[in-house]
Amino acid sequence: MATPTLAAYREKWREAPRGSDADGRVFSTDLLAMADDAFLAAWQQMAARRYAGEVGWLGPLYFDTFRGKNVAELGPGLGYDGVRFAEHGAHWTFCDIVPDNLAVIRRITTLKGLSDRVHFHLIGDDLSFDALPRDFDAIWVFGSIHHVPFEIARKEALDLLGHLKPGGRWMELVYPRERWLREGAPPFEQWGKLTDGERTPWAEWHDIEKVRRRLFPAPLRTLLDFEFCSHNYRWFDMVYAAERPFRAEDHDVALLSRRANLLQAPVTLNRGARRQWLGPGVVCAPGLFAPSAGIDLGPSMRAVTGAAKGLPGFAVDIECRVGRGAVGIGLVDANGAYLPDAEASVEEGPDSRLVTLRAVGTGVPAKLVVRNLRASGRSIFHLVSATLRPAN
Ligand SMILES: C[S@@+](CC[C@H](N)C(=O)[O-])C[C@H]1O[C@@H](n2cnc3c(N)ncnc32)[C@H](O)[C@@H]1O
Repeated sequence: MATPTLAAYREKWREAPRGSDADGRVFSTDLLAMADDAFLAAWQQMAARRYAGEVGWLGPLYFDTFRGKNVAELGPGLGYDGVRFAEHGAHWTFCDIVPDNLAVIRRITTLKGLSDRVHFHLIGDDLSFDALPRDFDAIWVFGSIHHVPFEIARKEALDLLGHLKPGGRWMELVYPRERWLREGAPPFEQWGKLTDGERTPWAEWHDIEKVRRRLFPAPLRTLLDFEFCSHNYRWFDMVYAAERPFRAEDHDVALLSRRANLLQAPVTLNRGARRQWLGPGVVCAPGLFAPSAGIDLGPSMRAVTGAAKGLPGFAVDIECRVGRGAVGIGLVDANGAYLPDAEASVEEGPDSRLVTLRAVGTGVPAKLVVRNLRASGRSIFHLVSATLRPAN
């Protein structure tokens, strides 16, 4: 597939956010037209709003983490975060698709005497970061690549990930699904206009599993994952948990995808009826926690372990739609006990949800089970697909 052009996104993002949600946006070209004093004062005023506002706490949280370290930022806008961390001793590489955004940051950092701590990379339509070193300690992604469709973001993110050290951090701010639901669950082409102004071509909600899928098959350990500001934002801080820098060719992605849909076995409902796992909606048994469906993972497990020896664990990727109520989808062991941290709850909603259940160092999952999470009624769910794979 040819790489899609970034032209529409470059055109929009010549207009970058001011310091706070409530302050709107400014064209970087207009800032560049100002004389030095006015330019510096305008930038400082916006940055001060940023540091005192909704996301200002990120500075004190990470100043020490980044001091003396090399960080690459994807989509810095006018550079509030990177400039602040560079002022606290970080070495910062700003990567953006808009030349004038980078020109604003170059000029600010020169005026502030930070030139020796900063670098710049203009992202071309090849979405490549080949020109950058491969030993970054962290990658900072602040509300940027959720503004391009998933496949573009994935290509870009995987390339940049190859420049992160083993044990390095992937940190990201996204818009949560809850915010998308609150705003009427519009198509992503429309949602950007609500979140970031009329000219915005795209905004897509993310949760940790979507970010992990974007970076799949890179092994990532979650340090932080939480929403803040009334569901307006979600923050992730993850460790790249591998011994070597990421290279897609080290992972047999083709083999992994050939294992897709290993779980297409029929499911046994608790009332004895048999339904097709990937078939129409299943009505849960009544009552909170009522077991409503289960599938034996044995045959799929044998296929996966046969293909890859010495696995650290397993993951099951599930696409599920809940038409009414809420369900818990979980992994249980041979005794029917839930494995630690291996149940996801999926609520009724307008879209399919992607969830991944992991069993790494916790025991072997024997069954995938679904239970009703609505005390007051019978939830209805539809499992679109389920895939068992080695965990990363
Ligand atoms: C909403 S602004 C956020 C700017 C800044 N991080 C902040 O918090 O103020 C989005 C930024 O991401 C950049 N951007 C948009 N799409 C991008 C992409 N595919 N890759 C890298 N940067 C992108 C834009 O040029 C812009 O600088």
